[in-house]
This record gives sequence, structure tokens and C-alpha cells, in this order.
Amino acid sequence: MALVARYTGNLTKKRTFVPMQETTPTAPVSQSFIDREEQYGAHNYHPLPVVLNRGEGVFMWDVEGKRYYDFLSGYSAVNQGHCHPKIIAAFIEQAQKLTLTSRAFHSDLLGEYAEYITRYFGYDKVLPMNTGVEAVETALKLARRWAYQVKGVAENKARIITVEGNFHGRTLNVISFSTDPGARNNFGPFMPGYEVIPYNDIKALEKALQDPDVAGFLVEPIQGEAGVYVPDEGYLATAAEMCRAANVLFIGDEIQTGLARTGKMLACDHENVRPDILILGKALSGGVMPVSAVLADDEIMLTIKPGEHGSTYGGNPLACKVAIVALEVLKEERMAENAAELGAYFREQLEALHHPNIALVRGKGLLNAIVIKHDNPDAAWDLCLHLKDNGLLAKPTHGDKIRFAPPLVITREQIDECVAIIKTSLERL
Ligand SMILES: Cc1ncc(COP(=O)(O)O)c(C=O)c1O
Repeated sequence: MALVARYTGNLTKKRTFVPMQETTPTAPVSQSFIDREEQYGAHNYHPLPVVLNRGEGVFMWDVEGKRYYDFLSGYSAVNQGHCHPKIIAAFIEQAQKLTLTSRAFHSDLLGEYAEYITRYFGYDKVLPMNTGVEAVETALKLARRWAYQVKGVAENKARIITVEGNFHGRTLNVISFSTDPGARNNFGPFMPGYEVIPYNDIKALEKALQDPDVAGFLVEPIQGEAGVYVPDEGYLATAAEMCRAANVLFIGDEIQTGLARTGKMLACDHENVRPDILILGKALSGGVMPVSAVLADDEIMLTIKPGEHGSTYGGNPLACKVAIVALEVLKEERMAENAAELGAYFREQLEALHHPNIALVRGKGLLNAIVIKHDNPDAAWDLCLHLKDNGLLAKPTHGDKIRFAPPLVITREQIDECVAIIKTSLERL
């Protein structure tokens, strides 16, 4: 057993060593990888001290050969499980044929993919991008365009309503409406044109919608990064209805909640809400490469003309092929159904622990979190170290919350094993 280095402050500073609790020491091989990363890589993340080099299904292995359950799934990008054989086979086959044309030319796959994904989700058109935040930027540009060209808002007056606790990515525009000081501090000046209202607050939305210059309402159906904050039942349906009545676009960011994670293909499906603009990313490639997409009907999508928006890699043949197969696999393997059933079972089992250090269990499908109650403000981080020692990888978010989001291919027996690991780890707190 060894004392563990605890991160104590500013990410730009070196870690300081605070002897607080005992965990298994980081093995020398892993430590050498960590040291190298710290020396040459920017310090914009604070990873758990584990170095991984293999993944399969719900498992990952570290460089010492130890196996772990993955309870983060690449922040819900690996819904289909690590290195899903069908997705990897499609990736390899396409990578040997053609990977990138740029949109200067057509490819034989973009049309097939566009038809597939628009029929899959029931929209007229798709605009393909790469990362999640690029798709969010795309959606915001579309909403502004639509406001000027269709709704008739005066030039430069369009406004977008967003909510407190949001997470939509890291670009300067997107952090302009973040309410997380860590995301914003010392990055100003910020982009105007946003109003931030409380989440899960219909009255606040009603008031904000009175402004005739509002183009859209951007919302996560469940706030993932905020700690899996699930709004009241009916919030999304009422919000969507109010947006329709006010001629405002309902923009659903399903980058983390979408693609079977919450027990339905989209989290908005739980309330039969069809966003006017749907944003997808992460699991759209099953964790294989960055693939994101914005879906909307012609009235919105055709406001952007050639040369007015795009991306070198957006819609590349490799991404198109991988995304088609990643979407196929979700349906073929009934992953939404598995997430619904095992998610409910997992929450039940966690609640049945009646553990004094678990203040709350919340979530939908297999997007879940626990809120830790403990005198030690670092208890959530410590618990993640114990979980790691016991073979399960999870990461705290916002101090006292730990997200539990395994790949959707997990089985009931594996959930039982993971609950046992969580129980043992809690006992070591
Ligand atoms: C809801 C939501 N939107 C946008 C993003 C940003 O995606 P990316 O990191 O791929 O840019 C994330 C990432 O966690 C997210 O959870």
C-alpha cells in the first residue's frame, strides 16, 4: 500500500503530494507513461492514475494487464462497447479503400449515410461534422440563420436561450453561455446573443420566450456533465410545446444522452419530443473516431448555402461508413432496451445498499450518477481510486458526483459484480 498524490489546485501547477489515504501504488510501468504525458502534454485534464492499452466490450486493460469495467464509456461515446467487432471490421474495410475526399468532391458513401441517418431519426436533412462542439456550433448557426431568413428577426438581434449548468463543449462561443467558472475564467471576452435561465424551470422559459428575437432554446434532455441531472417529468414536452407556440426552435443536444444511452434511442423520446434541431456525436461512431451530426428539416437546413459552413473532415467516407454500422448495431443488439432494463436494475441495487455515503442515486437507462455525502470534500475522488483498485473505472464530476455509465452491452451478471465492487470500495472510504 502507498500514499497517493492528490491534486490540490490549479491545473497549470504541478501536482503536490498530500498524504491522505492509502491505495494501491501506481505500478512503475504505468507511472512512466503518466510522467511522460505530464511532461509533454498540456495539463488540461486530470485523469485517474491508470494507463490503458486495450478494450473489449465493457472492459479495458491497463499496461500491467489488469482488467477493469469501464463505467465512463468515453463520456458515453462507447455505447456499443469497446472495439465492437462489426464497427471495427467496417472501419478497417473502408480505411483500406478511401478515407477522405473533402467536400470538394462527392463520395459514394455520403448520400447513403445521409439517407440512412435522416430516415433513422425522421428528419429531411443531415449536416455532418466531427466533434460534438462543432455540431453544437452548427446548430447555433442554423438557428440564427433561420431566425433572420425565416422568422424575420432584425439583423444581429437573434438570441438563443440556454440553461444554467449546461455543458455543450469548449469553444469560445459555447463557453460564452457556460455557467461553470472553470470553463470560462480568463477566456473572455465572450460572444453576445445568449440568455441563460435556470434548468428545469418552465416559468423562466415562459418569460424568456416573450422576447420576439429569440431564435432557439438549446437544452440537454438530461444534464450529463452537471452530474446526470434529470429534469422533472414533463419539462421537455412542455418546453417544446412552448417553443412551438412562440415560433422558437427547440434544439436538443443529445450528444451524451442520445443513441440508446438513457433507455430510448433519444432521451427526448421519453417525452415524445422531436427537437427542431437534433445534435448527435460521441456514440455515433461507437467510440472509433470523432463523428457528429446535426439533423433538421429543410426549412432550417436549407438556410445554409454552399460555402457558408463546413469542415474538411465532416462527412468523410470513413466516418459515413462507421456511423451507419454504429447505428445499425444499436438497433440489432437492442441496446436501448438493455439500457432501460439494466439501468433500472442498477439503480435499484445501488439504492438497496442504503449506504450512508450515498446521498442520492439518479439517472435514466445506463446514464447514472451517485452523489457522495462525506466530511472529506475529496471523497468522490478517493472512491474512484478505490473503485480502480477493485477493477472499475469511473470519474467524479463537479466534486461530489460520480457518473456510472457503462457500455450498453453490459449484462445483469456484470452489473451484479460491479455493484459488489462499488459496495467494497465504499467500505474503504
Ligand atoms: C451534451 C454535450 N454536448 C457537447 C459536448 C461536446 O462534445 P465534444 O467533446 O465531442 O466536443 C459534450 C461532451 O461531453 C456533451 O456532453
